[in-house]
Amino acid sequence: MASLAAERVAADEKNDYEHGAEAQEFVHGAPAAPSDPWILAAGGRIYDNWWDALDRKEPEGTHPSYPATGKQSGPDTWRCKECHGWDYRGAAGVYRKGSHHTGIKGIDGAVGKPEAEIAALLRAPLHGYTPEMITDEELARVAAFVSRGQPDMSTIVDGETRAILAGDPERGRGIFQTVCAACHGFDGRRYDWGSDGEHAYVGTEAASVPDEVLHKILNAHPGVEMANLRAFPLSDAVDVLSYAATLPVD
Ligand code: HEC
Ligand code: HEC
Repeated sequence: MASLAAERVAADEKNDYEHGAEAQEFVHGAPAAPSDPWILAAGGRIYDNWWDALDRKEPEGTHPSYPATGKQSGPDTWRCKECHGWDYRGAAGVYRKGSHHTGIKGIDGAVGKPEAEIAALLRAPLHGYTPEMITDEELARVAAFVSRGQPDMSTIVDGETRAILAGDPERGRGIFQTVCAACHGFDGRRYDWGSDGEHAYVGTEAASVPDEVLHKILNAHPGVEMANLRAFPLSDAVDVLSYAATLPVD
């Protein structure tokens, strides 16, 4: 192992201690020398909602490739997740039916594909993401996420019933109480995303849309100051998910 002094010089050469404005901005900024976990999580937030993740203008109208038979419309149809699913399995997973069904395949078949090829596919007319929407550097992050950042959701969340198939809730409890609770409270009820008298807490979301919640645990929620567990073993994130699904739902 290199000495601490040598590590410090190496990190300094990478510009890790850069004190510019961008380096102070956790939500929309970027480290001067991004680590791989940072790149994969940043790419995952673009997959979720790129305009919130990147602080861009919301796109106008429905995505031209969104099928006429689909039930969604407007800006949301420009989110990768809307066509390919939170479980990355498209028509083979949770979106096989229901209000988000499009019949479009998932991105799980693109695991391991060259990142440049994925980026080119996203610029091509079928996807139509312009550099004004997502810059080349940002597009490389989402391509890295597609190629190297997808957990195999089919082993974690049942694509038919959406039941959680894995995780150790007791381990997850320790992680939730020491990390997530800082912002979400020990019972996960500090933030409420519900509307019309319905509550939506971490517990509600984890129990009903576990694939989405695992995506948020690994990448964070776009456009807000949320930490993520990307730098840790995947099993940590799955353990938190399994515990979060036991928290109060209303
Ligand atoms: C409006 C719907 C729509 C949106 C939004 C969308 N895609 Fe796609 N995507 C498609 C369609 C359609 C295909 C082609 C599927 C086929 O070949 O059957 C595709 C194909 C892909 C593939 C190739 C999959 C494979 O196995 O070869 C990848 C990777 C991909 N999209 C990633 C993304 C990413 C990343 C985003 C967001 C930045 C995104 N897509 C947004 C519709 C969409
Ligand atoms: C530093 C603060 C912070 C930490 C730590 C944090 N979060 Fe969050 N999280 C947020 C904020 C802020 C939001 C968005 C709140 C809003 O939209 O009002 C959010 C959103 C979410 C959402 C999105 C809900 C939805 O449906 O849109 C989920 C799920 C979530 N967090 C789970 C977790 C879990 C699990 C952990 C622990 C691994 C965690 N968060 C750690 C701040 C945090």
